[in-house]
Amino acid sequence: MSRARKIAHQWLAADEAMGAEDVPIARRANTGVGGKEVGIKTPVVVRAESETQLSAIRRFETGRPVEIKRTAEPAIRAPRPEVVRVVPVPEAALPPVPPGAISEEPQLTRAEKSERLAALADEAHQVLAAYLSDVATRVVFGEGDPGAQLMFIGEGPGLEEDRTGRPFVGRAGQLLDKMIVAMGFTRERVYIGNICKLRAASWDDLAQRLKDRPPTAAEAAKGLPWLHQQIAIIQPRVIVTLGLPAIRYLVGVTENMGALRGHWHEYRGIAVMPTYHPAYLLRAYSPENRGKVWSDLQAVVKRLKELDGSSG
Ligand code: URA
Repeated sequence: MSRARKIAHQWLAADEAMGAEDVPIARRANTGVGGKEVGIKTPVVVRAESETQLSAIRRFETGRPVEIKRTAEPAIRAPRPEVVRVVPVPEAALPPVPPGAISEEPQLTRAEKSERLAALADEAHQVLAAYLSDVATRVVFGEGDPGAQLMFIGEGPGLEEDRTGRPFVGRAGQLLDKMIVAMGFTRERVYIGNICKLRAASWDDLAQRLKDRPPTAAEAAKGLPWLHQQIAIIQPRVIVTLGLPAIRYLVGVTENMGALRGHWHEYRGIAVMPTYHPAYLLRAYSPENRGKVWSDLQAVVKRLKELDGSSG
């Protein structure tokens, strides 16, 4: 393996170990990998139930490799900016997970769920208003079908989400939308939420701008009580967590993403599948990473079908 290729691989591995939080694209473009993506193309068999689903699958799963164009600019020589590491969460810092299985919570009709979520959102807006700042200007509560069987949980809103008050509407959100359609759903039929309801960002000296970052345990602790209540109301059958902070803060696991993804976890009796964050996928859009996410999502679809079958 050439040295440049080895370095590219090491970066990908480091991203993965840290929850894939921050790799400036310009640097990766200068890895000298010959302007081509690295990775192995694995053949995939896909089934689609509609033209829209088929084209989403094509774009997401079998889309042509991203061409990384070499720029005329010289390689960036400045030291790599510090990546915010998500350290194992001391349990005491986080609010406890409510006891008992979700199935023991009161069974609600769709209308009741909708009403309760609206009341909870009002309360969250009032309480969290105390923490609004120049960085987090809005509470981003979450959105989707109150009776959803499938729920996606990210780490917290970024710049676009803070501007609009809606979860996953930036570039990562657009990729998430494609993933959802490829699974045979639409954004309206699932529920999309976050651990944190407020944007977390810090000033980046190198980029000379505020950069979104993973939430700290203290920030997660502010958002989790709302998320626990959202899940208790929605009572999804399966949860997909996106990125390392989401699975760590929801379930309390401490392994890295490479070890966690592709395996089932549990939250109050609900099956939880962790997978890579779409923002990571955008930065490391290799056939290998897309294949891993697609296989996680297919496992979710299969599980939902099984649960459907078992409930008659
Ligand atoms: N990333 C997240 O984790 N959540 C969002 O809502 C947007 C980006």
